[in-house]
Amino acid sequence: MNNRTFYLTTPIYYVNDVPHIGHSYTTIAADVLARYKRAKGFDVFFLTGTDEHGQKIQKAALACNKTPVEFTDSVVDKFKTLWNDLNISNDYFIRTTDELHCRRVKKVFQQIFEKGDIYLGDYEGWYCIPCESFWIESQLEEKKCPECKRAVEKVKEKNYFFRLSKYQERLLEYYDKHPHFIQPESRRNELLHRLKSHVEDISVSRSAVEWGIQVPMDATHTIYVWIDALLNYITALGYDDDLQKFKKYWPASVHIIGKEILWFHGVIWPAILMSLKIDLPVKIFAHGWWTIEGQKISKSLGNAIDPRSIIQSYGIDAYRYFLLREVPFGLDGDFSYSALIQRINFDLGNDLGNLLYRTLTMIEKYFNGVIPEMSDGANDELRKSSQDTHDKMVHEMDELQFSKALEIIWEFINHANKFIEDKKPWSLAKTSASKPQLAAIMGSLAVAIKDISVFIYPFMPKTADEIQRQLGIIENDQQLLLEFHQGFKQGTAVRKGKPLFPRIEHTESFSKETVS
Ligand code: ME8
Repeated sequence: MNNRTFYLTTPIYYVNDVPHIGHSYTTIAADVLARYKRAKGFDVFFLTGTDEHGQKIQKAALACNKTPVEFTDSVVDKFKTLWNDLNISNDYFIRTTDELHCRRVKKVFQQIFEKGDIYLGDYEGWYCIPCESFWIESQLEEKKCPECKRAVEKVKEKNYFFRLSKYQERLLEYYDKHPHFIQPESRRNELLHRLKSHVEDISVSRSAVEWGIQVPMDATHTIYVWIDALLNYITALGYDDDLQKFKKYWPASVHIIGKEILWFHGVIWPAILMSLKIDLPVKIFAHGWWTIEGQKISKSLGNAIDPRSIIQSYGIDAYRYFLLREVPFGLDGDFSYSALIQRINFDLGNDLGNLLYRTLTMIEKYFNGVIPEMSDGANDELRKSSQDTHDKMVHEMDELQFSKALEIIWEFINHANKFIEDKKPWSLAKTSASKPQLAAIMGSLAVAIKDISVFIYPFMPKTADEIQRQLGIIENDQQLLLEFHQGFKQGTAVRKGKPLFPRIEHTESFSKETVS
């Protein structure tokens, strides 16, 4: 990896069910980061995809009277369509059923076996199908899976094991030398605690599960779905038979995941990479979980809202904004329609939408719709504030603190609104003597709004585009201008459109369509 490349990934999602808010959250966060890094000139590779093997999918296909292949194909389409609807800019979509992935996984498994890190043994313990996780008796909580609290099943089978215990010390050393490897810090500490206390070798094959990649040296076993899945992060780059992309992008700059799969990513995955003598990813960021109106998202509770119904009612960018603004990245959050509507009405409608609308209205009224030119140095106030916003935002984006970055942008938006109140352009417009002053005010407001469009672009690409269109900068098929602090071409005519985020009345009956 050179320092101008940036490789980021989401988890690859199980296809036993259609995508819900939680999946869209991780993918949108990754998309925001990918767009931001591209805008900053990085050569980005953004990977997402689907995890299609294992007992859980096999069971779900059977329940629908479909073969696993028919079943997974239909669900994968739903993921792809949603990512398209949400403007996700992934560079590649990997499916673990892809022939290339399967071939590469087999090869890597064989390599680890030949190194002596995989051996045949007997497994006796418990298995959670929804989490696809092995548990020993003492880890269970009231005989249930400690992760998802659902029923577990007893498993006794011959399995291949990976020597995870051999890597315990090396992992601890690595954590010590790389304090920012796992984030946020609180989750790093939890993981470290578990890693220090006890690490056993883990099963990496199943003899009772047919739907999976065959173990290369034993046709009676399939590779444990988590090993198959984790390897996607390198097979998608061509490892180990087409290394061009791998050499360019590996190690991953960040794996973005949910907190419940941190053990797999923070312990098992690094140990596998150590066994393969491959560099470890730079960072693993485990974000929090969303609940819906206070409840865990679950199919049995029937509350897994379909993101499509939200974006149909409230718009793509409002949804993207809400998810990343509402909750600090890393913490848990609660989705409610009233909170979403508040954000739309206040942050998006009142603050952002009005700033654009009133500024363009005044440019139309006082300057015949042409953005006035201003002399150098006129009204430095907003220019300085914009620079300051940029610098602070860069810091927060690099830390994946999306909500803080948005707060900083909104401080600037509110500064621009206050600037209008303070300068009172309508008073200056009364006398022609104050025309140069009025031009400086309106000109600097136009530049500030253009800068705002650049700042919000990673979060709300369509809105950024619409703002620049209304400012007269771009035609429909043109690229966004992503440089900030740039003035306007002489004679740029604004094209005021409808208000960006019209007010939504709270009395409106919410469309609460759930996923089916
Ligand atoms: O675990 N809140 O797939 P999965 C926030 N296939 N994020 C949520 C969420 C919620 N309520 N629910 C799901 C798997 N997510 C494996 C991953 S990776 C090599 C294999 C998001 O379909 C979050 O990113 O269960 C979480 O980690 C992921 O979806 C789990 O998706």
